[in-house]
Amino acid sequence: MAATDERKPVTVLFADLAGSTELATQRDPEHLRALLSAFFDEMRQQIEAFGGTVEKFAGDAVMAVFGVPRVNEDDAERAVRAAFAMQESLAQLNPMFEQEYGTSLVLRIGIATGDAVAASRAVNEFMVTGEVPNLAARLQAVGEGITVSETTYRLLAPRLEAERLEALSLKGFSGPITAYRARALRGTERRHVGVTGLSSPIVGRDRELAALSACLEDLRHGRGQVVSIVGEAGIGKSRLKIEQREHLHEGLRWLEGRCQSYTKSTSYAPIVQVLRGALGLGPTEAPAIARTKLRAAGRAFSGSEGAQSQGALAHLLGIDLGQGQAQVLPSDPRALQSQIVLATRALVQGLAERGPVIIAVEDLHWADSASVDLLTLLLELTDFQPIMILVTSRPDTEGDAWTFRLHAERNFGHRLTELRLAPLAVADSQRLTDHLLRVSDLPEAIRGRILARAEGNPFFLEEIIRGLIEEGVLRREGDCWTASGPPEQWTIPTTIRGMIGARIDRLPAPAKAFLQHAAVIGRTFGYGTVRALSDEPADLDRTLAHLLRVELIREFGALPERQYIFKHALTQEAAEASLLAEQRRALHGRVAQHLESTLGDGIAEQAALLAHHWAA
Ligand SMILES: Nc1ncnc2c1ncn2[C@@H]1O[C@H](COP(=O)(O)OP(=O)(O)OP(=O)(O)O)[C@@H](O)[C@H]1O
Ligand SMILES: [Mg+2]
Repeated sequence: MAATDERKPVTVLFADLAGSTELATQRDPEHLRALLSAFFDEMRQQIEAFGGTVEKFAGDAVMAVFGVPRVNEDDAERAVRAAFAMQESLAQLNPMFEQEYGTSLVLRIGIATGDAVAASRAVNEFMVTGEVPNLAARLQAVGEGITVSETTYRLLAPRLEAERLEALSLKGFSGPITAYRARALRGTERRHVGVTGLSSPIVGRDRELAALSACLEDLRHGRGQVVSIVGEAGIGKSRLKIEQREHLHEGLRWLEGRCQSYTKSTSYAPIVQVLRGALGLGPTEAPAIARTKLRAAGRAFSGSEGAQSQGALAHLLGIDLGQGQAQVLPSDPRALQSQIVLATRALVQGLAERGPVIIAVEDLHWADSASVDLLTLLLELTDFQPIMILVTSRPDTEGDAWTFRLHAERNFGHRLTELRLAPLAVADSQRLTDHLLRVSDLPEAIRGRILARAEGNPFFLEEIIRGLIEEGVLRREGDCWTASGPPEQWTIPTTIRGMIGARIDRLPAPAKAFLQHAAVIGRTFGYGTVRALSDEPADLDRTLAHLLRVELIREFGALPERQYIFKHALTQEAAEASLLAEQRRALHGRVAQHLESTLGDGIAEQAALLAHHWAA
């Protein structure tokens, strides 16, 4: 077993091209191979564009994994988006196959999500074993189209349009399997839906809501604003924004763009959405109408550069201006970029002349640098025009988003309102739980456990409740919620694991290993114990400092030895869950040995703790 073997939540995509072998017998096989290999190249590119790793090609099939080498919180979404993109490529190639070979090809894709054991054998080579890849392969064989497993579906519902298939009996799986045929993935707000069928009005956040209302009021009176909402994943940044957007005063124009974790290297990803909003372009506007709308907006571009600005925007938005477009576009990418910047600026200025405008950019921590540069430039407009730049971001202390916030603080402090979202107060978490479950007579023990685990993070709270309902632990009986099964067996919902796993996977290798070791010790751990477990004690202090800085752990006592605590219990659980059973047992044994050798007379008191480690 390699040291890098670990358990992690992954999504596996298995795709098979059907019908190519029949084609091969009819026509020149070499020509066909060349065509197919071009298609497979394209599939690989699409998988990689969404952050997946191709594990292998076998015949006309490809298996890809999302979650290795690093987990992303949205691996399931990435896989499904890659699948749709692959289908689209084939749809474009098929007319040619039909013409040349008299028939078209069919792509069958199976997607499954769950825990797998991931092993890295060599650089850039990954192996994933477990039930998940098998399930993806079996689902692929179910039929034409994209078939997703129940877990994948649950992670994406309700945004995933899909139809539930009749229960399947699949080779190698006991009992009937539920699966869904995916039709489309809508790109609407990531969350806001609450627990399926259950949602809650906003709780707490009175201060923040009041501050935002005041900013909007100022904006209405013509004063430019910069608003930055910062907080951890799931703490409620988007919700706060949505509350404003949904109760917007008449006459205020709201334009919004969202950064995605997989578009960090796509230039202007959120800006394109803002511009589409500014031009009033729907998601599937007919080319002729898009052209007309752009031309109409073009009145904002004055002077001789008007045509160039229009050309640059058309290029960015993928609008075909017809003949002549190419002539006005500079061939130098830098010149093109500056034209895009000028055109966007002119367009926003033009809008603001007609009334106050809010430009909201969500999840700035995932923004591409071109977008951040452009947004930084737009900040200047807030000094002269009724424009509000509103951004949400997680508190990363590096990257472009951080630079943007620093710049805003330093140079636009007079316009800036920064809202840092803390965890919900206990009373608010309680109210949220009551709203979500619609009854307030939840047994105290269960409520306490839900609240303790969520630690004031509304997303965690929703997901924990959702998980408990889906697993049947929490059941509605008449008007009451009852729980069955011992609470110790509650597992962390896959959504939360993905989110936390993504953070852990982004850490440098020693810090990640440290967290896994510390997690075995418990929610709190002493310096001496981690030191005893550490493979590289010399680097321990540096690693600790790093983890403190990124706020995954906190120091809470220094005497007689330094003590640390995982900031979230869920982080500790996720880190421990990423160890293989064998590794976990071995580490628990080492902790127990260390405790026995150091506790001395205190052993009797610590008997329960020792028993816990020995029994693991
Ligand atoms: N104050 C609140 N009252 C009730 N529900 C809330 C509150 N804050 C957040 N929620 C709910 O919790 C979930 C997570 O919130 P939200 O999506 O706003 O988090 P976020 O900070 O934007 O996270 P991310 O960084 O992942 O985008 C949503 O379903 C949201 O509706
Ligand atoms: Mg959000």
